[in-house]
Amino acid sequence: MFFTKLSHRDYFNLSALYAVLNLLVPVFSTAVVSNVATSAIATPATEEPEFTDVIENITVAAGRNVKFACSVKNLGTYKVAWMHFEQSAILTVHNHVITRNPRISVTHDKHRTWFLHINNVEEADKGRYMCQINTVTAKTQFGYLRVVVPPNIDDSQSSTDVIVREGANETLTCKATGSPQPTVKWKRDDNSKITINRTLTVLEWEGESLELTKISRLDMGAYLCIASNGVPPTVSKRIKVSVDFPPMLWIPHQLVGAPLAYSVTLECFAEAHPSSLNYWTREDGHMIHESKKYHTENIIGNPAYKTHMRLTINNIQEADFGAYKCVAKNPRGETDGSIRLYTSSPPTTSPKPTTAESSSGRMNKDNIWSSADFNNSVYGNNPSSLTVHFPDKGSKYQSNLNEIDKSEQKSGSEVEGKGAIYQWGSVGGSSGGVSRFIVGWNLILFLYPLFR
Ligand SMILES: *[C@@H]1O[C@H](CO)[C@@H](O)[C@H](O)[C@H]1NC(C)=O
Ligand SMILES: *[C@@H]1O[C@H](CO)[C@@H](O)[C@H](O)[C@H]1NC(C)=O
Ligand SMILES: *[C@@H]1O[C@H](CO)[C@@H](O)[C@H](O)[C@H]1NC(C)=O
Ligand SMILES: *[C@@H]1O[C@H](CO)[C@@H](O)[C@H](O)[C@H]1NC(C)=O
Repeated sequence: MFFTKLSHRDYFNLSALYAVLNLLVPVFSTAVVSNVATSAIATPATEEPEFTDVIENITVAAGRNVKFACSVKNLGTYKVAWMHFEQSAILTVHNHVITRNPRISVTHDKHRTWFLHINNVEEADKGRYMCQINTVTAKTQFGYLRVVVPPNIDDSQSSTDVIVREGANETLTCKATGSPQPTVKWKRDDNSKITINRTLTVLEWEGESLELTKISRLDMGAYLCIASNGVPPTVSKRIKVSVDFPPMLWIPHQLVGAPLAYSVTLECFAEAHPSSLNYWTREDGHMIHESKKYHTENIIGNPAYKTHMRLTINNIQEADFGAYKCVAKNPRGETDGSIRLYTSSPPTTSPKPTTAESSSGRMNKDNIWSSADFNNSVYGNNPSSLTVHFPDKGSKYQSNLNEIDKSEQKSGSEVEGKGAIYQWGSVGGSSGGVSRFIVGWNLILFLYPLFR
């Protein structure tokens, strides 16, 4: 017959071609039927082949090898073919691999179980695999291959570390691929809350992008985007958000009194990012250097954009009275604040340090600021005020604690634009030096969100 003259190769190419043309119809064409007819004449009246088991569905991670098993009986001279339904591709016929895909192979166990092997599975391999017997009316059964792919974060389409100016908006994105499609969640590295906007703070945010509006220094830190789809391993990316702003200074005591021959420590609290250069000058602008006379210290706070500046002046002489300036400079701006040192009479009794200790004892021990030495407040029990300096001292606003409500109302507009000096005047009795400072500092922390 005509077909017997064809080589095997030609035969299978022909059936492949035929099947591709007739996509979804049984692969074994009239050509095969003719072939079958000849075999049927040669070996008459045997039982028709049948499937003896269903094909198991397979779920596999990309990169693994799998095999589908198709079990038949009474195959005789009929043949078993494997096809990929969605791709309309003939993969194998009998012992032969038709597809050019090198990852596909076929084996059998005594012509009863036919295995389709797929090595190094790819996502595109997913779909319905058909096992077909070339009976007159082709017999077909299916097995499904599901390919899962662990999540992956596409760095080229995701945010990297960013530097943002305070007050600006920033959108962080993380593009994740995988199968099934991964979900993306955002968290802060230190598990603190994410400030989405003025009214919304969340521990976790879901979505490919995280929009931060009107960023503040409190939003500074590392953010994690975490992609998961139920297929291990879950992956994450760490994105550092730096928030830049010009230096600000808080001065707990602008007027400090000390007796001759004593030592005194002046203090300023600075906030700046990037870190500021912090130093002290005399009123004539001369920078103060470390010496026997002066001891300067910059204590880095937590968060690290806070610095506690201290200047200790030893063995006070007449020439030491006057004004001192603490200065903080960073690429975003420069701010200074002044403290006036004046002469006071030596203490006659010593209850004041006790006050200082008990007062400072009330402060949170975890707080770096609690380590502050309040020595100057022992002497500085005369008019003392907490002053907040913003850069570009355009305007000045002064109030005492009783007027704090007013200052809250005003702060929003006044601070945002030009910057201003806020002063909380002295309150209460003479022993109030330290506690005033504490109240003041807490007030700043309390009022801080209002400045945003
Ligand atoms: C394979 O999955 C398909 C579709 O979900 C389902 O109809 C069929 O019953 C499954 N086969 C087996 C053997 O579980
Ligand atoms: C930031 O986002 C808010 C809300 O979407 C918008 O009103 C504001 O104009 C944005 N600000 C800037 C500087 O783009
Ligand atoms: C804050 O963000 C949430 C979520 O995007 C939004 O529904 C809400 O309207 C926002 N609120 C303000 C005041 O912008
Ligand atoms: C304050 O300064 C004086 C004078 O140098 C010193 O004797 C005293 O111990 C200091 N007090 C504290 C609480 O550090």
